Amino acid sequence: MTTENGSDQVVVRLDGVRKEYGQSVALDGVSMEIREGEAVAVMGPSGCGKSTLLNMIAGLDRPTAGSVNVHGEELGSLNETGLALYRRRRIGMVFQFFNLLDDLTALDNVALAGQLSGTSARQSRKRALDLLGELGVADQRNNYPATLSGGQRQRVAVARALMNKPSLLLADEPTGALDSSSGEQVMNLLLDLNRIGQTLLIVTHDPRLAERCATRLIEFEDGRIAREKVLERAA
Ligand SMILES: Nc1ncnc2c1ncn2[C@@H]1O[C@H](COP(=O)(O)OP(=O)(O)O)[C@@H](O)[C@H]1O
Ligand SMILES: [Mg+2]
Repeated sequence: MTTENGSDQVVVRLDGVRKEYGQSVALDGVSMEIREGEAVAVMGPSGCGKSTLLNMIAGLDRPTAGSVNVHGEELGSLNETGLALYRRRRIGMVFQFFNLLDDLTALDNVALAGQLSGTSARQSRKRALDLLGELGVADQRNNYPATLSGGQRQRVAVARALMNKPSLLLADEPTGALDSSSGEQVMNLLLDLNRIGQTLLIVTHDPRLAERCATRLIEFEDGRIAREKVLERAA
């Protein structure tokens, strides 16, 4: 589905997604769409299903019922290999605690994401270095995660997430482990990425992050969408 400017293109479509873990219901019938170029913030109390939602969209786990379609691909029809390829090629993920590999340098953490999706080592390192530069951490390229500040680690993690030019960048509490000034920097970075066209889905507890970065806010309660509003983002 394409329109003249592409901005009506649906990147993510969830239809009646339900997820049960044993007796507990993490998602209770969620239907939503995310369009190309949107920055959607998801908020809601702890345990309301926000991370489960991201995991469903990332293909890290499968719904108990309902369907998830990303960029025209029906995730339910992919086998495990197909899902792994989908994750590497289509999705970038950023987590609260960075999830970098401790025994790889910043550069190798980023470059690895390219190599895993079939790009040559040389090309991957080149693109990784460019991304570290764009995110302001090129000087940290040969350092290991343990020697970086939280804010630097998160920028490296964002670079890694962008390595394969994902259709969608998913961020789960990306500023949750950062002090307010590095949180703000990461926030600005996400805002800049969206302004140059990156579609974002950000889970956050921080209303400032939502108001600053998002074009739409979705509030979850007990595994369901409780309310939704379009945000007026400052220019
Ligand atoms: N892997 C899992 N196994 C069992 N229960 C889970 C699992 N993941 C999440 N849950 C449960 O699902 C509900 C939603 O969790 P989660 O999506 O992590 O919430 P949030 O990210 O909003 O804090 C919670 O009750 C949680 O305990
Ligand atoms: Mg969570």
